[in-house]
Amino acid sequence: MSAFLEIRDVSKSYFLHGKRIDVLRNVTIDIQKGELVSLVGASGSGKSTFLHVVGTLDAPATGAMRFEGRSVFEMNDAEVAEFRNRTIGFVFQSHFLLPEFTAAENVAMPALIRREDRSAAVARARELLDRVGLRDRADHKPGEMSGGESQRVALARALMLKPALLLADEPTGNLDPATGEGIHQLLREMNRDLGITAVVVTHNETLAKSMPRRLRLKAGEVVSAD
Ligand SMILES: Nc1ncnc2c1ncn2[C@@H]1O[C@H](COP(=O)(O)OP(=O)(O)OP(=O)(O)O)[C@@H](O)[C@H]1O
Ligand SMILES: [Mg+2]
Repeated sequence: MSAFLEIRDVSKSYFLHGKRIDVLRNVTIDIQKGELVSLVGASGSGKSTFLHVVGTLDAPATGAMRFEGRSVFEMNDAEVAEFRNRTIGFVFQSHFLLPEFTAAENVAMPALIRREDRSAAVARARELLDRVGLRDRADHKPGEMSGGESQRVALARALMLKPALLLADEPTGNLDPATGEGIHQLLREMNRDLGITAVVVTHNETLAKSMPRRLRLKAGEVVSAD
C-alpha cells in the first residue's frame, strides 16, 4: 500500500556565476492522507524550493514523486497541469493576487477559470473570506488591503477548489501573532473538516509546534523536527 504522497531522492541545485548550490539533497519522505505538517528551517535552507518541486511548479534534478500511486514527474505537460489544477492549492510566499480584481473575485478565480457558475463561485468565495476573517474586505482590491489581509485572501483562494494537498509558504509571515494563530486554527479546521492534507512552511516555532507533524529542512535534507 503506497502512501498518499511519496517523495524519493529528490535533489535540486542552482548554478549561478559558476557556483553550484545544492539546495535539496536526496529528500525522501512520505506524507499520509490527512496529515497536517509544518516545515521549518533557516532562511535559504530550501523550504520554498521544496514546496515548488512538490507542487510541480519547479522540476527537480533527480528523484521521483508518487501521488496516490501516480508517478508525477513522469507525467507529460498536459497531465501535470491537470494534476496541479485538480489536486494542489498553493499559497505563495508573495501572495500574487491580481491587482485589478476584488478580494472576492481573486478568491473565486480558480473556479471561474474552470467555468463554474459565476454567482455560485463568488458566493463561495465570500464564505471563504468570511472564514479567514475578511467579510468586510471582500470588495477591496489588493492595493486597498494590508499585507496580512492579502495573505489571507491568498489562503482563501488556495482553498477555493478544496485541494487534496495544500502547500502553504509562510501563510502567516506578514501577520501579527493573533491573526497568525487564527490562520493556523483555520488550517487545522480545513484539515479536520475537509480532510485537506497540508504542508505549511513557517518561521514561527510556536505555530510549527502546534502542527501534528513537524519537519525541518537542514543541510538539504528533510528531517523530523523533534
Ligand atoms: N533561481 C535561483 N538561482 C540561484 N539560487 C537560488 C535561486 N532560487 C533560490 N536560490 C537559492 O537557493 C536557496 C534556497 O532558497 P529558498 O527560496 O528555497 O529558501 P527558503 O528556505 O524558502 O528561504 P526563506 O525562509 O528566506 O524563504 C537559497 O540559498 C537561495 O539563495
Ligand atoms: Mg521561502
